[in-house]
Amino acid sequence: MQSYIFFHELTFAFTSTVLLIKVASVPARSDLADISTLEMVQIMFRPPLTHWHYPTDPWNNVAIWKDIAPGFGELTLVGKRQALELGKWLRFRYDGFLSSSHTRREAIFKTSGVDRAIQTGQVVAAGIYPPAPHDPKSDWDPSREINWQPIPFHVAPDRIMHPKTLSETECPRFVAMKNASFTTTPLAVMINSDPEVVRVCTEILKHSGLTMCHFGVIHNLHKTLAIQRKYGLPLPAWTDSIMDSMRRIAVYRTDPRVAVPTTEARRLTSGPILTELVGDMERRIFGGGLVPKMTSYSSHSTAVAALLGTLDIFEARHAPEASVVAVELHRFRGNNHVVRIFFRNETNSPPYELELPKCRYPCTFANFKTTVSPYLLSDEEWWWECRRGVGRSARGEIYHNSISSDQNPSLV
Ligand SMILES: *[C@@H]1O[C@H](CO)[C@@H](O)[C@H](O)[C@H]1NC(C)=O
Ligand SMILES: *[C@@H]1O[C@H](CO)[C@@H](O)[C@H](O)[C@H]1NC(C)=O
Repeated sequence: MQSYIFFHELTFAFTSTVLLIKVASVPARSDLADISTLEMVQIMFRPPLTHWHYPTDPWNNVAIWKDIAPGFGELTLVGKRQALELGKWLRFRYDGFLSSSHTRREAIFKTSGVDRAIQTGQVVAAGIYPPAPHDPKSDWDPSREINWQPIPFHVAPDRIMHPKTLSETECPRFVAMKNASFTTTPLAVMINSDPEVVRVCTEILKHSGLTMCHFGVIHNLHKTLAIQRKYGLPLPAWTDSIMDSMRRIAVYRTDPRVAVPTTEARRLTSGPILTELVGDMERRIFGGGLVPKMTSYSSHSTAVAALLGTLDIFEARHAPEASVVAVELHRFRGNNHVVRIFFRNETNSPPYELELPKCRYPCTFANFKTTVSPYLLSDEEWWWECRRGVGRSARGEIYHNSISSDQNPSLV
């Protein structure tokens, strides 16, 4: 209510010729969305707990994990529960904005083609749209054996959902840039030559069976070990002296200075998704095609980190499991639209509203679009930028300097 009054004043300011926007402050945190003004929401989340292994991993044995996850890299038991909790929370936050029965007009669910993202999206959707007793088509199972209804899913292209897996044929420029960001950029060199990183890498190369080490490797290995520890599996003794350091070093992997340091990197990694988000907002505001009230993207931690990094609202430490970003479009009197971005990174407390440093709060849609305009591009532009310099001298330069980054294929 408080925040509504606040925006009310803002609307008033819009109508005056001299734009006298009062110094705006972010409303108090709340689990509930301001659905009185909500026009549309785009949510993006990553799979929660999955699991991995490394060459000398004593727990690299499917039998140990059989009660936990169907296969490596797939969603674990805990991960499924986290995803369901997230779905139920989204239902709670948007109840009333979303009706109790799913229609395509109301919500569309998109996912990357990766199994764990598909699984996560399905569980989240089940939490948002359980069968509604008064809606017979959703309450389809007369025996009530399962409290679930099928929700359609759409696999979106990698450039939108999972830029990390883009191959050299799809986007050579991105692959070269990514490789360089772990090993040859000045920042990568600085991080990798830090004495603590050198010490950790020495241990890793000695014991893990991995044949290459940099902070990206440390990130992957740390994730693997942390999940094993979470499941009560004792870790090998050599990890004792490096676990804490690994945790600190691992955050560089999603640090925006590493992941999206340049406008080019931002265009290649987050340009396609931002272009879709902005295009859908525009169609919702100005008309032109059906845009559902909610679009859900079941994506990946690197894609979420890159998007937030591109918007300058990401700090390396925040990318916890089951976290979700909600981009809300609100409509005020006089057809004024405001974009509000929420980040839920703690399950026991309301989401944080993130203020875009380059868009004065509250961020109007027009200002939002201006802020992100350097990163917006058509599919065709993206295709060309992916090939910029490739096949000419720049290619040699980039390729010559980069060493492979994801040396262990099981640690994708
Ligand atoms: C969640 O995000 C907020 C805002 O960025 C930050 O202040 C907070 O420390 C984060 N919490 C966790 C657990 O990462
Ligand atoms: C980047 O790393 C990948 C994975 O290790 C490797 O296959 C590829 O050849 C490298 N590409 C470049 C341009 O260095």
